[in-house]
This record gives sequence, C-alpha cells and structure tokens, in this order.
Amino acid sequence: MERFSDIGAAVIGSGFIGTVHIEALRRLGVDVRGVIDATPELAEGAAQRLGLRQAYPTLEAALADPAVDVIHVTSPNQYHYPQVKASLAAGKHVICEKPLAVTSAESRELVALAAASDRITAVNFNIRFYPLNQHARQMVKDAELGEVRLISGHYFQDWLLLDTDWNWRLEPDKGGTLRAVGDIGSHWIDLTNFIAGLKVQSVMADLSTFVTVRQKPVGEVQTFSQERAAETEPVDMTTDDAAVILLRYANGARGTVAISQVSAGRKNSVQWEIDGAKASAAWDSERPDHLWIGHRGRPNEILQRGAELMNASGIAATALPGGHVEGFADSICSHFREVYRAILAGAAPADPLYATFEAGHHEMTVGDAVARSAAEDRWVDVEA
Ligand SMILES: NC(=O)c1ccc[n+]([C@@H]2O[C@H](COP(=O)([O-])OP(=O)(O)OC[C@H]3O[C@@H](n4cnc5c(N)ncnc54)[C@H](O)[C@@H]3O)[C@@H](O)[C@H]2O)c1
Repeated sequence: MERFSDIGAAVIGSGFIGTVHIEALRRLGVDVRGVIDATPELAEGAAQRLGLRQAYPTLEAALADPAVDVIHVTSPNQYHYPQVKASLAAGKHVICEKPLAVTSAESRELVALAAASDRITAVNFNIRFYPLNQHARQMVKDAELGEVRLISGHYFQDWLLLDTDWNWRLEPDKGGTLRAVGDIGSHWIDLTNFIAGLKVQSVMADLSTFVTVRQKPVGEVQTFSQERAAETEPVDMTTDDAAVILLRYANGARGTVAISQVSAGRKNSVQWEIDGAKASAAWDSERPDHLWIGHRGRPNEILQRGAELMNASGIAATALPGGHVEGFADSICSHFREVYRAILAGAAPADPLYATFEAGHHEMTVGDAVARSAAEDRWVDVEA
C-alpha cells in the first residue's frame, strides 16, 4: 500500500461522530468501503444518506471483507470492547472512539490484544490535533514555559441541562458509570497530559448529579438531537452531571478541572491553562485559532494559527491558511492522517502523536481513581 486510497475502511456507527469519521476519511482519500450499524436497516439508511458504496448487514460481514483494512468504532461506549476485540482478531487496524471501553478491565485487555498484534490502534482523542494544541505541546517540550507547575481549566457543555434531555450516555450500562467525566472529562485529561507531557498521578474528586430524575423518551434519541419525545417515562439518575477534580502530577505539578454537561450556554467549551516557571499558555476550543501566551516581564501575546507563525508541530497539523478557522472536523482529519501514515508505514512511530490504546487505558484508570475518590471522599492514586 502506497497511498491512502489503497487503504479500505469500514465505520461502525453512523450517528453524530460516525458521520464525522466518514467525512474525514473521504477528505483524506481513504477508500470508505461501507458502514455497519445496530441493524441492517439502519446501516442501509446511513449508506444511502452518506452516499457510501455499501452497508454491511453485520460487523462479521465487514470483518470478512478482505478489502477492509481498518475499522472505525463509533458506536455507543458499551460496544467498543467487543467490537474492537473482534476487529483485532480479524486482523484489522482499529481507530476506536473514546472512551476505549466502559471498564479499565476491558481497556487493559484491549491494550494487551493490541500489543500482541502488529496492527495500528488508536483512540479518537482528536482535540490533540487542533494545530495550536500541537504547537503548545512543542512549546512545553522546548522549555518555553519552563517547568510546568499548574494545569487548570474546564470542559463544559449544556446539552443535558434539562430533565427532558435524554441520550444513551445517561444509562450506565450503555455509557459507563462515569458520565460527564468519562464522556468529556476524558478529553480534557488526555489533552492536558499530552500538551504538558505529564500523567495524572492522584486525584481528589467531587461528583454531582443535579438532575436526579430525567424523562426518558419511549424510543431512541440521536446525540445532540433537538427532538422532544411525546411519550416519556421518569428514570432515576445515578451518573455525574458535573465534577470538580484536583489533580497531582508526577513532577509535583498541580491541577484543577471542572467538568459539566449542565452549564447553560456552554455548547462545547474546552479550556486549559498551563502555568510554567517562565511563562503560561491558554487555549479555548470555542476560539480554536488563538493561543494566549502569558509573560511576567513583557506584554502577553495572542498567537493566531498560521503556518508562518507556528512551530513545526503546529505547522504539521494545519491545513488551511491563517484566518480560515480550523475546527472540530479538521482536528479529526489531522488525527486520522497521522494514524493512516502509520498504517502505510507498517508500524507505529516511536512516540505517536495520536492517543494509543495505552493512553486510552490511562484515561480509564484516571476514571477509576476519580470514582473511588468521590465515593470515599479522599485522595486516590491512579493505578500505575
Ligand atoms: N471524539 C469526540 O469528540 C466524540 C464526539 C462524540 C462522540 N464520541 C464518541 O463516539 C461514540 C458515539 O457517539 P455519538 O455521539 O456519535 O452517538 P450517536 O448516538 O449519535 O451514534 C451512535 C451510532 O451507533 C449506532 N449503534 C448503536 N448500537 C450499535 C451496535 N450495537 N453496533 C453498531 N452500531 C450501533 C447507532 O445506531 C448510531 O448510528 C461514543 O463512544 C462517544 O463517546 C466522541
């Protein structure tokens, strides 16, 4: 295989993010062979809607197709583990959506299975691939901020604010027992670990369920859908609407993050700030083309994304000229470009920019520590 068009991919799931995967693959020129969904009828509808060459009636049918080299897993969380496992057993490369699994026992097993194979495996922590996040990581590596001391920020959304808001993520057997933390907090932890080059060592967490009863529609609801069901039934809620977490890192750095899916007006707001011994940097996903750089003895700077102003890491992740804002879908395209390059090369790079299954598993172990800390009201170490 010499070029992306020589690689065949099939995508499991055609909801919000499955559609984004398919569009990114098409932009890269990857040969999207078809889609798999919960039923053959849903897959057929998706193939029609997205203009794909075929719908596979089952995952087994896609795995049996020798033209499929890569499986993208974009189904609800509970299916990631069995679908990734089956894909690896069939000799396919895998890009799995986050979280990698619903328990760390499952994600640990997937790490072992990936390691025992020669396949390329990645978790879609796409926010790493906004060009200014790549640029910021290089700044930290080049010691432009000095020793990292403080990492702070939030990940806020509002789409689960009302008791009539419903999604499969609210059901622990489908989404996992940690909800806001697992769904979006995982992105923040992965992103800041990636930029700072540090892993979370211990956590002190407080989880809150503010909406204690929700109205579950009788029937399915798509993610971020504005539809309201005519018929609903009340369901008691157990998972976190919001969390505040204190973090300790291996080098002695400290962190704090607030996570919420019930913050009115915050549609998808990821913010981080990293304060080092020499300078600081901060980024906001809703203004993704701007990086704030803070100084003590001279005026602060705003770096606007643009190949002529960024370092080599930022440039490598950018596609458009400055001022032509790059966003969410572009970050996924940039991410996949990196993974597909590894597939073409036949081996993962020594220090992949993309999140490996190990990184996906680390997230799960941070989640375990968060859940335990909240339950026992104390600091808990993340499993090494
Ligand atoms: N990286 C990101 O920024 C990002 C953003 C959104 C979602 N996600 C992740 O992607 C996954 C899907 O989320 P979504 O928001 O697209 O959900 P969604 O509900 O919009 O779509 C899920 C899709 O999976 C299909 N599906 C359900 N059960 C299935 C099964 N057994 N086999 C195959 N397909 C099945 C559904 O029919 C639907 O097409 C989740 O794991 C979520 O955490 C990641």
